[in-house]
Amino acid sequence: MNTPRKILVTSALPYANGDLHLGHIMEQIQTDIWVRFQKLRGHDCLYVCADDAHGTAITLKAEELGITPEAHIEQMKAAHQAVSKGFLVAHDNYHTTHSSENRELAEMIYNRLDANGHIARRSITQAFDPEKNLFLADRYIKGTCPKCKTPDQYGDNCEACGATYSPMELIDPVSALSGAIPVPKESEHFFFKLPEFSDFLKQWTRAGHLQDEVANKVAEWLESDLQEWDISRDAPYFGFEIPGQPGKYFYVWLDAPIGYIASLKNLLDPKGEDWLDYWKPDSDAEVYHFIGKDIVNFHALFWPAMLHSAELRTPTKVCVHGFVTVNGKKMSKSRGTFINGKTYLEHLDPEYLRYYFAAKLTSAVDDLDLNLDDFIQRVNSDLVGKVVNIASRTAKFINKAGGTLAAEVAEPALWQQFVDASERIAEHYEQREFSKAMREIMALADAANEYIAAQAPWKLAKQEGSEAEVQAICTQGLNMFRALITWLKPVLPHLAEKAEAFLGESLNWAEPLRFRASDTINEFKPLMVRVEKDKVDAMIDASKEDAAPKATGPLADEPIAEEIEFGDFAKVDLRVALIAKAEHVEGADKLLRLTLDLGGETRNVFAGIKSAYNPEDLEGKLTIMVANLKPRKMKFGMSEGMVLAAGPGGKDIHILEPHEGAKAGQRVM
Ligand code: 2FM
Ligand code: ZN
Repeated sequence: MNTPRKILVTSALPYANGDLHLGHIMEQIQTDIWVRFQKLRGHDCLYVCADDAHGTAITLKAEELGITPEAHIEQMKAAHQAVSKGFLVAHDNYHTTHSSENRELAEMIYNRLDANGHIARRSITQAFDPEKNLFLADRYIKGTCPKCKTPDQYGDNCEACGATYSPMELIDPVSALSGAIPVPKESEHFFFKLPEFSDFLKQWTRAGHLQDEVANKVAEWLESDLQEWDISRDAPYFGFEIPGQPGKYFYVWLDAPIGYIASLKNLLDPKGEDWLDYWKPDSDAEVYHFIGKDIVNFHALFWPAMLHSAELRTPTKVCVHGFVTVNGKKMSKSRGTFINGKTYLEHLDPEYLRYYFAAKLTSAVDDLDLNLDDFIQRVNSDLVGKVVNIASRTAKFINKAGGTLAAEVAEPALWQQFVDASERIAEHYEQREFSKAMREIMALADAANEYIAAQAPWKLAKQEGSEAEVQAICTQGLNMFRALITWLKPVLPHLAEKAEAFLGESLNWAEPLRFRASDTINEFKPLMVRVEKDKVDAMIDASKEDAAPKATGPLADEPIAEEIEFGDFAKVDLRVALIAKAEHVEGADKLLRLTLDLGGETRNVFAGIKSAYNPEDLEGKLTIMVANLKPRKMKFGMSEGMVLAAGPGGKDIHILEPHEGAKAGQRVM
């Protein structure tokens, strides 16, 4: 064997605010196959990952769940790890970016960027939510598109006309978090001076670290002017405070990739090894990041530039993959094709998907389609029909004859085909051309099956005196099976384990293929069952259920009342009413007195909305009232109708307002 290489491999750190879906799983399987391949070849290869645990989204989700961000990210990490493990993804370490190692490294790297003059500071104006007291990221602001006037668009671009703009350009912007009108507010931000790395990046991105198609894309960005990168966020923010800058935090994307190093450090520290062995500029280790095409800018621009400034080595390769589609379309919740890893595992064997992904993965950035009919067909025909079949048709004859293999190769030319293929297949793996590897493996499985079918040991076995011949054929068959399983071991670790149990050996790929002869094997046990369509259908149904809104919140708290006749409803006369006057009521802690103008007639109504409104804010607003409610005598006077409002209570009560242009007195139906 060649000298072992020292290799560090990562896949993208999943956000700690959502479940792992098949897109994440595809990436982790791709990475895991490559890592298992390297280990099987005898290299010193480490696979580290972590949860990406910082940012406003985490705080908001934790708030929604009524728990602390720390508790939330801990639960998510455990859930993510369970799913990865379910797919047989074997991380050497799985850490979190919210860790002491990551804090230390983020501070160290930031301090180096700053010391090297690569951090700029200046004030910028951003949208601020005066109710929640925080700066609003673009996706938390909604309003009407300034170009095409479509309402309800996010703060950075319009889904209707595609225009891009800054959130303060929206017409009637509101905070998606509180409904408050955002106000512009200034604060000091810290920027990484990316433009200073333009020449470095032009060279680095063409030096073999990226796939050509990725390098071409990046070149377009490099040709247009690079912008300084805003790496700070103001408190409140769930993350790490910038050293010496109270109230300023690292933006989540600054410390996320540093999390790769932190996870390695967390793995190596207890062993007394040094993470710098992998990350110093002259390290002899190789570093590979597997990522999706949506985060190329972070990994091919910001990250190498940061590492360069911090006097650390840059990655050997950034390996970019495309998105997963299902049945030719984007994964969709309503079609049940937005499949969570956990849901898949509740219905199907992880190795089916590992094989299917392997059979379709290339080194290119193309999207990968999981076609469910093809999935069933391919797994059943290749794995069950071809590979497993070789062992089940030959092992039993060896078992019957006491488990001993023949002494010689029966068909040297056929065996030579296997020997010759081994390094070619290895090279396909090395280049992440898994689909080419699977194709070669399956072609050899076909050759093996043809040989066995032609020799028909089951027929021969019925003839007297044929024992030696049957043993020779089946020994040849089992050796071909051993080779196939060795090559499939990175993809199908469980299947390989079961095969190793009956073969009585641990298969490795560090040495050239060897023909096993004369020794004994153990009893054969079935290795894999067919994929059943029912189970695939059940998984899709369950994914539809996952996506269906759950009855939590208002509906669960207050179930819908008994059905009524239309006539009952029609009796209720709802009218648009102008709140002409609103006043406190002496001695009442919940009520406001409203004078409602119905366009010619006024009503005195007591409404239990004092906890949510200042009277002066109500005056001049239109609302909706039940106008034909029999007047009721209350402690403070007669109430002549009722105003409609919704909300759980306290500050969170909102009176219903009619559409723009409504006029007092109009009937509401
Ligand atoms: O896109 C994402 O889901 C990010 N959480 C990936 C981070 S990868 C790395 F840089 F940490
Ligand atoms: Zn628009």
